[in-house]
Amino acid sequence: MSITTEKVLEALRNVDDPDLKKDIVTLGMVQDLTVSGKDVSFSVVLTTPACPMKDLIHKACVNAVLHFVDKEANVKVNMTSNVTSQRPDDRPTLPGVRNIVAIASGKGGVGKSTVTSNLAVALAKQGAKVGIVDADIYGPSMPIMFDVVSEKPAVRKVDGRSLMVPVESYGVKILSIGFFAETGQAVAWRGPMATKALTQMLKDADWGELDYMLIDLPPGTGDIHLSLISAVPLTGAIIVSTPQDVALSDAQKGVALFQMPAINVPVLGIIENMSYFTPAELPNNKYYIFGKDGAKNLASRLNIPMLGEIPLVQSIREAGDAGRPAVMQDGTPQSEVFMNIAKSVAQQIAIRNAERNDAKKLQEIQ
Ligand SMILES: Nc1ncnc2c1ncn2[C@@H]1O[C@H](COP(=O)(O)OP(=O)(O)OP(=O)(O)O)[C@@H](O)[C@H]1O
Ligand SMILES: [Mg+2]
Repeated sequence: MSITTEKVLEALRNVDDPDLKKDIVTLGMVQDLTVSGKDVSFSVVLTTPACPMKDLIHKACVNAVLHFVDKEANVKVNMTSNVTSQRPDDRPTLPGVRNIVAIASGKGGVGKSTVTSNLAVALAKQGAKVGIVDADIYGPSMPIMFDVVSEKPAVRKVDGRSLMVPVESYGVKILSIGFFAETGQAVAWRGPMATKALTQMLKDADWGELDYMLIDLPPGTGDIHLSLISAVPLTGAIIVSTPQDVALSDAQKGVALFQMPAINVPVLGIIENMSYFTPAELPNNKYYIFGKDGAKNLASRLNIPMLGEIPLVQSIREAGDAGRPAVMQDGTPQSEVFMNIAKSVAQQIAIRNAERNDAKKLQEIQ
C-alpha cells in the first residue's frame, strides 16, 4: 500500500494541539506536505516559537504517521511558527507588532523590571522577535538591565516622518523613558506627560516586526496607570507579586484594574517572584522565607493562570545590575525558570488569541 498525502493528513487529524484543543489539520498547522515513496515530509506551524508542547507535538506527528499510515515511513517534521495576533484594535498603529503585553504589579520593587528583561531575552532566545517599552516614569530600569545606559535612540526618516530607532541589546529592541529624561527628572512627570511620552515611544518609533512587545509599567494602580494602560492596545497583562500578604493584596488590586469594565484587558497570569531563597552553595535547597504558595492560591481564587515561581537568588540581582539578564547564564536553575515562564506566557497569549479568533468567527456567522 503506497503512502499518499490524503492518508498522512487523515493520520495527522489524530494529533491535537493540547492548548487549542483541536487537531492540527483543522487548525491549519500542517503545511508543505510532500510524499515520495516512504519519505514523508511536512511542516507544523506552531502559534509561537516558545511553544511548551513543541516536542510533544513533534513526537505525536511522527507516531501518527507510523501508526496509521506505514510503520516503515521516514517521517521528517519541520517545526516552525507563526506567532498569532488578535489585538483589540486590529492594528492600525504598529501594524508589525503582533502582541502587546503589560507587566504590572500593585506594589513597587517586587521584580517587574527583572521579569520584563529576563522574559524578553528568554522569548528572543527561543526565536521570537521581541521589543520592550520601558514606561516606568518613576525609575526606568531597562537601560541599566540591558547595559545601554549611555546609548540614545537614533532617528530615521520613514515616509517623511522622523521615527526613533529602538536601541538593541541581546536581540531585544528597547525604548525607555530613561533615554530621554535625566535620572531624577522623570519623577516629576505628571500623568499627561507620561502618557504622551509612552504614546511617542509606541507610535513615533520604527519597531518593525515584533511578535511580542512588553511594556514595563511603573508600580501602583493609580491614575497614571489608568491613562498609560488606556493609551496602549494591550493583548494582555501579567501581574508580578512576591509571596507576602501585603504584596498579594496589591497584586489583587492590579488584577482588578485590568479587569475593570472600561479597561477590560485579559490578565494572562501571575508570576511570583522571590518565591523561595536558594543560596548559591546549596542550589537544591529552597527556603520559603516570605511564605509558600501565596500567589498560587491568589491565582486559583481569581481563576487566572499561575505562570511561574522565581527564586530569590543573589545572581539574579547581580545580573540585573551588571546589565546581563540572568536568563543568559545557560544551564543554571534560574535560567531554566525564566525560559519556562517565557513558554507559559507565550502559551497563554496563543490561547487568548485562539479564543478571540473563535469569538470573531462566531460573530461573523451571526
Ligand atoms: N528573584 C530575584 N532574586 C534576587 N534579586 C531580585 C530578584 N528579583 C528582583 N531582584 C532585585 O530586586 C530589586 C527590585 O527589582 P526590580 O527593579 O525588578 O523591581 P520592580 O518591581 O521593577 O521595581 P519598581 O517598582 O521600582 O519598578 C532589584 O535590585 C533586582 O535586581
Ligand atoms: Mg521597575
